[in-house]
Amino acid sequence: MARIVMQPSGKSVECAYGDTVLMSLEKAGFALPNNCRAGACGECKVKVLSGQFDQGMVLDMALSQEDRRQGFGLMCMAKPISDELVIEWGTEDAKPKLFPPRENALFVVVDKRVVAARVVELRLRPVGKPLRYWPGQYVTLGPGNDAIPARAFSIANAPRPDGELTLQIARSDDGPTSQWVHDTLTIGDNVKLSGPYGTFIGDPAVDTPILCLAAGTGLAPIMALAETALRRGFRKPVTLLFSARTEPDVYGHGMMAWWRTKHRNFDYKVTLTREQKDGFLQGRVNEVLPGLFPDLSKHTIFAAGSPEFVATCVNAVKALGAQDGMIYTEGFFAQQQPTVADASHLLNTAN
Ligand code: FES
Repeated sequence: MARIVMQPSGKSVECAYGDTVLMSLEKAGFALPNNCRAGACGECKVKVLSGQFDQGMVLDMALSQEDRRQGFGLMCMAKPISDELVIEWGTEDAKPKLFPPRENALFVVVDKRVVAARVVELRLRPVGKPLRYWPGQYVTLGPGNDAIPARAFSIANAPRPDGELTLQIARSDDGPTSQWVHDTLTIGDNVKLSGPYGTFIGDPAVDTPILCLAAGTGLAPIMALAETALRRGFRKPVTLLFSARTEPDVYGHGMMAWWRTKHRNFDYKVTLTREQKDGFLQGRVNEVLPGLFPDLSKHTIFAAGSPEFVATCVNAVKALGAQDGMIYTEGFFAQQQPTVADASHLLNTAN
């Protein structure tokens, strides 16, 4: 058994014999960024301040000789061989740091499809380096002219080795950017994204049952958070309640059904607010929640959607006992602008 100490917080976790540093951090609830988990992508690169470790087989592309000389290692493959390994991870209060946003990163639209009555899904691939982000964050996208401003859209997928991003964009009658996406942008186009922005990220130290509430394209950040939690082996129950007006407004069904089949701790329900259909709940979240969760005092809650939806969710979950410090929200305004966290929370990365 070795001890992994994180600086600057000074917090430590035990690392069982045979475990990698990444595994031991995750078991203790610390989410070190990672992607391939096989020494190939470089996403889990951190500086090791002291102690020895066996780096295992990793690709030079992910960890260069220069990185090694500077003391960096890939934590998805690194196993401690000294009693203590001190690494640079997180903020002073042991929270994950945010990645510095990039401006005008070039992407290509590799797919565009209609997924619900008023929602298209874009799949965008980076031409250069992948954009590093935490699930739950968003990017801004626009045609790059003065007439149509760039707008904020949440990333709907967990980070992938190829850097592909999925955005789900609802048509807004008074939103020229969404109309440009729906009517003009086509597969094969180049687009420029800026980001990531936002602080609606899952607290990796959460070790309680989770209830996710989403309406409309509020589902996007919730999907990214759920995918990431399930991928890293989160074991407590995760329930996703998606609120849609009518059945044609429902999307994401396939992915949620796949998660439910693959992960026994995941379940999802869809409630329709403007029609009654077999196989769906009926009513707004505040109407259906009491029947599903009479007591939410031990749940962590994530809610995303319009500000009105989020406010309704917060009132509803508090009425069922949810505690203030365990409620995370993201309300989308039609004219949402990016907000950048204080620079002290930004990750200093080696690449
Ligand atoms: S997660 Fe890809 S190199 Fe570690």
